[in-house]
Amino acid sequence: MASSPHMPDLAAPPPAVWDSDRDETLQCVQVRQETHDVKTFVLAAEGPRSFRYLPGQFITLELEIGGQKINRCYTLSSTPTRADLVSITVKRVPGGPVSNWLHDHLRAGMRLNAIGPSGEFSCFHHAPAPRYLFLSGGSGITPLISMTRALHDLASTADVVFVHCARSPADLLFPEELTLMARNMPQLRLAMVCEQHTPGSAYAGHLGRMDAARMAHIAPDFLQRDVYTCGPAPFMAAVRQLLGAAGYDMARYREESFSFAAPAQPEAAATAPAASDTAAAAHRIVLSNSGQSFNCLSGQTLLQAAQGAGLRLPSSCSNGVCGTCKTRKTSGEVEMKHNGGIRPREIAQGWILPCCSTPLSDVALER
Ligand SMILES: Cc1cc2nc3c(=O)[nH]c(=O)nc-3n(C[C@H](O)[C@H](O)[C@H](O)COP(=O)(O)OP(=O)(O)OC[C@H]3O[C@@H](n4cnc5c(N)ncnc54)[C@H](O)[C@@H]3O)c2cc1C
Ligand code: FES
Repeated sequence: MASSPHMPDLAAPPPAVWDSDRDETLQCVQVRQETHDVKTFVLAAEGPRSFRYLPGQFITLELEIGGQKINRCYTLSSTPTRADLVSITVKRVPGGPVSNWLHDHLRAGMRLNAIGPSGEFSCFHHAPAPRYLFLSGGSGITPLISMTRALHDLASTADVVFVHCARSPADLLFPEELTLMARNMPQLRLAMVCEQHTPGSAYAGHLGRMDAARMAHIAPDFLQRDVYTCGPAPFMAAVRQLLGAAGYDMARYREESFSFAAPAQPEAAATAPAASDTAAAAHRIVLSNSGQSFNCLSGQTLLQAAQGAGLRLPSSCSNGVCGTCKTRKTSGEVEMKHNGGIRPREIAQGWILPCCSTPLSDVALER
């Protein structure tokens, strides 16, 4: 039977698996309005593709907005157990260039460049735990709904307490779907916590914030649970504080942040010399494709040195998380302190992340 590009032929042989080593063009096939300021964008590959990733991982979108290249990470809110499509769920951030562009311009039929998937924030990345506590704040629900969708589809008997905190009932994400999943998963318990009421809503969940008393009420055995948290920085700080004060074993605590702390700029970076000034240079860095070169001072990352020399390398997080800057190193040695944005297999193949790599010798990069 013939199939349209967005209607996979389910009778055909299994499609090729998503190759995370390649940049992928994704086509938006549906836009769903989740709340007044959150939309889900459903994305398909250009050809038949089986999307394999860990629930909770993210992709990096490469966009061009107003003539500027701009990258942003988005968690896949979908589940790999439904492998024909992926989705991202995006909250509008006031004044934010990318979230507003996606909300205002991304329509079915449009194409996007994506890199990934990346990231290690997934209960599937670690040995199964007997009990979980998923704590989500606002759009930080995306990795946790992905994990829960996967557990649901796999008929998991995992014991999960899922807490979703939002400003108001009108801001709650996926409440009906969570309720449906809880009906199918006897060991999934839900708790909604809203800071304030929405006039006229039938909301009957908790009102207020997540504090020690509420935690003890919702998940009295929280000390025995593996905790996964994602939400705004103050929300996660409050959770850490609450758990720490209760004597929780933080080795079983995992969190994902949607904002990158600005990396410390070593003094050398602030005073980076021109490429011709070799007096303070530690190592010479050559971009073999473009023929450009620059000096990297002691304590500088390759990305900082390139920027100091006026060269633009692709980057987003500057923190070794997103994988945007991934580049093949053809010669030389570096010390790389990444945060999950590169796989061991890629490192073995000679790839590095310039944003978190400092040279130990002269280096040539395939750029
Ligand atoms: C690993 C990772 C996964 C992410 N997954 C998602 C996701 O699933 N859904 C999503 O909506 N965003 C997600 N983000 C955030 C996303 O990458 C963008 O930062 C966000 O869409 C805002 O982009 P912007 O260009 O509009 O504004 P920016 O210029 O990027 O951000 C403006 C400010 O808003 C803050 N901010 C970023 N995201 C939020 C948010 N959701 N709520 C409140 N403040 C925010 C930023 O820290 C920054 O201070 C993720 C980020 C990371 C690092
Ligand atoms: S810029 Fe994100 S990993 Fe380098």
